[in-house]
Amino acid sequence: MAISFEPQKRVFKLDSGNATYAFLIDSGGYPSHLYFGPKLETLDLDYLHRPMIRAFSPVPEGRPAEEAPDAVLREFATHGVGDYALSSAVVRDAHGNTATDMRYRSHRILRGKPKLPGLPATFGSEEEVETLELTLADEATGVEFILAYSTFRELPVIARSVRVVNRGTATVQLEKIGSALLDFDHCEFEFLQLWGAWGRERVTERTPLRHGIQAIASNRGLSSHQHNPFFALVEPGSSERFGWVYGMALLYSGNFRAEVEVDQGNRTRAQIGINPEDFEWELTPGAEFVAPEAVLVFSDSGLGAMSRAFHDLFRNHLIRSRWRDRKRPLLINNWEGTFFDFDQEKILAIAREAAALGLEMLVLDDGWFGVRDDDRSSLGDWFVYERKLPSGIDGLAREINRLGLKFGLWFEPEMISRRSRLYEQHPDWCLHLPDRGRSEGRNQLVLDMSRPEVVDEVFRQMSELLDHANIEYIKWDANRHLTEVGSAVLPPGRQKEVFHRFVLGTYDLHERLLERYPELLIEGCSGGGGRFDAGMLYYAPQIWTSDNTDAIDRLRIQYGTSLVYPGSTMGAHVSDCRRHPENRQTPFPTRGVVAMAGTFGYELDLTRMNEEERAEIRRQVRWYHQYHHLVEQGQLYRLRSDFDTPGGYVVWAYVSPDRREVLLSAVQPRCLLNEIPRRVRLDGLAPELRYRCDELGRSFLGNTLMNAGVELPLLVHDGDSCQLYFHAEEE
Ligand code: GLA
Repeated sequence: MAISFEPQKRVFKLDSGNATYAFLIDSGGYPSHLYFGPKLETLDLDYLHRPMIRAFSPVPEGRPAEEAPDAVLREFATHGVGDYALSSAVVRDAHGNTATDMRYRSHRILRGKPKLPGLPATFGSEEEVETLELTLADEATGVEFILAYSTFRELPVIARSVRVVNRGTATVQLEKIGSALLDFDHCEFEFLQLWGAWGRERVTERTPLRHGIQAIASNRGLSSHQHNPFFALVEPGSSERFGWVYGMALLYSGNFRAEVEVDQGNRTRAQIGINPEDFEWELTPGAEFVAPEAVLVFSDSGLGAMSRAFHDLFRNHLIRSRWRDRKRPLLINNWEGTFFDFDQEKILAIAREAAALGLEMLVLDDGWFGVRDDDRSSLGDWFVYERKLPSGIDGLAREINRLGLKFGLWFEPEMISRRSRLYEQHPDWCLHLPDRGRSEGRNQLVLDMSRPEVVDEVFRQMSELLDHANIEYIKWDANRHLTEVGSAVLPPGRQKEVFHRFVLGTYDLHERLLERYPELLIEGCSGGGGRFDAGMLYYAPQIWTSDNTDAIDRLRIQYGTSLVYPGSTMGAHVSDCRRHPENRQTPFPTRGVVAMAGTFGYELDLTRMNEEERAEIRRQVRWYHQYHHLVEQGQLYRLRSDFDTPGGYVVWAYVSPDRREVLLSAVQPRCLLNEIPRRVRLDGLAPELRYRCDELGRSFLGNTLMNAGVELPLLVHDGDSCQLYFHAEEE
């Protein structure tokens, strides 16, 4: 059993991969955290429970001082009864009071892992996964909190979620619910976060912890470009290969908050969950609320191992799509090539080129529906724009299929334009507030996805197309954040439910589409990578990483993204840098090398490529067809990540799960005058195997490659790159 329980001391020990997580139920009935770190062999761990009695620590009525709620490390923190650090849950009772005091009631251990209704969740077979369900209760209100902890046989991961059930007799309001809390008895950490903006997603930032609260959050309705629902606490000085690291990610695509508090005793409390700002949920007697799942990853060997654990978790235990283990179609998307200015002939001309160059799918982006000639109209009218596409979507798809390509289509399902038939018919279907204006973002409004009839209508329109045209892929965009978040159908007391209900409605639409079209490949997107989160991966196995397709900028964006999300999920395309605002002339081969770190494709007008570029595309396509499996299934090793130093390299390698193949890619953003050859040490190989590299014309022992390294071909221009493929020789 991965989960054991010692009934005398009431100690729980959860073994997951090479990690152990432990807590006990203390004399006050509180689950108290003991340990999260490298695997332990004993249940004799209660000595780690050390109440720290301090001045100004209130003690519950009639109880001993060591039961002071803020004296020990917690699993789930009370509110208003003496624990002054971040609370896990706040319930407002029928008297209007918010004290919430949850204590142990019962537990059960099960094989496998129950689904979370309406929400994304990790999964695994009964052999791989075990779950502990710990029921806590607040006696005064009768509200129960069922904390779920799941372990994974192969991975140092604990998945946590919370179900709140009102077993009392009065209606209560849930004001706050954290999904996972993690306490430490020290604060020797740095806080690592991924912040960003449109075109500049997932920039890494590391700052020392300080006393008080440090938080990142989204209040935009989507997980956002600005902050990713992930953070890590890393030992100071830890690096790609060294140091203890704790990563936490939330499987959620809406408002989240991740907070870390260092208290007066230098203890650290970290938590992630739905953002309590503008959140509240009414719980009538018998009703329940399920909080999104959080995943906790432990690594004792730096950020690299943390990333690989997240990648394996997401690939094997979160992504459900039938496309998970399949070769992703090498696509051409017309957006950067044509923007709104296309017609059927132009699209077919691009498709003919694509087919001739060995590509596999054409994706028709924005501008094919309603009367959409720019971004000011037609969202919500998901029927073909006949002036541009006289044979309809079905006719176009047929033509494209005839060329031997699959066909994919862009949608923005949660949005509505004022200038649309849908808005004329249902002006109250967008999010809005009485007596206030409706703010527009990119000239559009947001549909009230909390209303089932709205989801029904979008589903109906999308199905109409998917039923009649051979659409094998959709790109699901969302090009603005939410404002005036109110629903015309909920009573005043429940308007704070709308943000979360919006997310549930969006998930529901995904779920319904996948149920009806299980073969459909969905690529998530939100103005580039504004909804790149683990929740989305449950529905969409790949997500567009950024609208910034400049290869040099992409190095940093993809580096940050790869901290948490695997290459198989990162939408990455070669674009025509002549069309970029940066106007950086990154060499065309380098654009291929960088895009090949993710789900490969092109985003340009193939009919305007010169002969040299076409030859390079052919070469890239050949490489992709040969090596795509390494990106899809391989283990990522970030060997060098020096974006800024002149002469610095960015080098990464995908190593096959059996360690017999390696695809190494290197880019030098800025060269030195008089450049010298650079050596790089590989990682993750089998030391005893001999690896052949045809590009270098020789073979090396794995041990040599990992310790002495390999000399890269000399790169002499800014933005130059190389790719090397190594494969184990037969013994
Ligand atoms: C967003 C996406 C782009 C493209 C446009 C279309 O910005 O990120 O890739 O689909 O919308 O309007």
